[in-house]
Amino acid sequence: MYKNRFSRIGFILAAAGSAVGLGNIWKFPYITGENGGGVFVLVYLLTVLLIGMSIFIAEVLMGSTTNKDAVSAFEVLAPKEKKYWKFAGFTFITGIIILSFYSIVVGWILNYIVIAIVSLPTSVPEAEKVFMGMLKEDIFSQVSYYTLAFLIIAYTISKGVKKGIEKMNNILMPALLVILIAMFVYSTTLTGFSQAIDFMFYPNFEKFHASSIILAVGHAFFTLSIGMATILAYSASLDRHTNIVKASIAIVILDTSIAIIAGLIIFSILFSAGQEPSKGVGLVFITLPAIFYEMGSIGNVMAIAFFIALAFASITSAISVLEPTVKYLVERKNISRNKATYGVSFIFYILGLLALLSNTTAFSEALTFGSKNLFDWFDFVTASILMPAGGILLAIFVGYIMDKQLIRNTLVPFMGEKFFKLWLFLIKYVAPISVLAILLNESGILKLG
Ligand code: PHE
Repeated sequence: MYKNRFSRIGFILAAAGSAVGLGNIWKFPYITGENGGGVFVLVYLLTVLLIGMSIFIAEVLMGSTTNKDAVSAFEVLAPKEKKYWKFAGFTFITGIIILSFYSIVVGWILNYIVIAIVSLPTSVPEAEKVFMGMLKEDIFSQVSYYTLAFLIIAYTISKGVKKGIEKMNNILMPALLVILIAMFVYSTTLTGFSQAIDFMFYPNFEKFHASSIILAVGHAFFTLSIGMATILAYSASLDRHTNIVKASIAIVILDTSIAIIAGLIIFSILFSAGQEPSKGVGLVFITLPAIFYEMGSIGNVMAIAFFIALAFASITSAISVLEPTVKYLVERKNISRNKATYGVSFIFYILGLLALLSNTTAFSEALTFGSKNLFDWFDFVTASILMPAGGILLAIFVGYIMDKQLIRNTLVPFMGEKFFKLWLFLIKYVAPISVLAILLNESGILKLG
């Protein structure tokens, strides 16, 4: 049991591996673009710092004080009503639903590494044709790359914390950092760099909408992987002597810096090519490949490096959402790690397959329910409802239910009395109330413009 724990740096890399993913490199730049840049970045930084980081610390606290799977952690830490609180541990189900559609995107990225190597689309319309062709018509390649993605993820988890998760992150995360830093250094030489800085850091309050705040809070959850027992499960395998507050701060800083760096890289490239920042979801798969082509051979190298970075970032995130469920089955149900991993993976692979097909022309009608197809439903239900709901549960549990003395004794030595009081205030009031606002907004009860 003790042997199968992260080393201190292994934990930081693995938790940062979970946090840094499509959210940072794909989603953050386009939602920043669509929400006017500077103001959105400012609001996002504030929410990450105030809400995201406090819930992150709460999750690490629960994992590291119990060293157990999420269901057992809630059970052990609830003084009364264990029967009910243990259900809060089942929020790990959110993670495997995320896995089923996240792996589809990992598959697209693997496909784009090949496209970047073989031949980039020569213009934006052609790039659109390539992407839409893959998404809507080419079921065979999409399923093949999706299957490959799932196999890599399941294989890593089947190998356990040390030989699987830690090893994978120890290789992929430093490689990701090197690629991003190299791309960032290059982007500072581009003509669009200063415009990118202006766009991201100059707050233009005209574009300020209340709905941007909601989006920023939701994204803070998604990008830090909180509210679904993922960070809790990783922290349960933490080395005993780790300073959990320092480690949490390091992870949040790493995650935020990578989002900012990815944004600066992408906007520098975009502005240098004279394109608009508000490109939406197609930014990474349509606009960028066409610009990379126009840049000539350096663009080719950049394209390959970029999609490899995206693959590394997304694989380490996908791995982390499978672990909590497998951990639960291994520790509570005495199922072997191999059986648990491949069993769960198989079920959610099939579910993801349906989501994949729901994007294709042939099956979209059969797999669309109401306003959304299955793929969009999975995304919406997990990121907009289940993750925030999991976050509220966690904040309420740590803020009101868990033994105060235990929390105090664990955290005060690491953060001091003053910061502890601030953290407790954030967990008890700020986090639950603001997350409730997102939930009400998403469900349409509260409408912010
Ligand atoms: N944090 C990851 C990202 O930003 C996504 C993720 C969400 C991973 C939830 C795990 C859990 O892409």
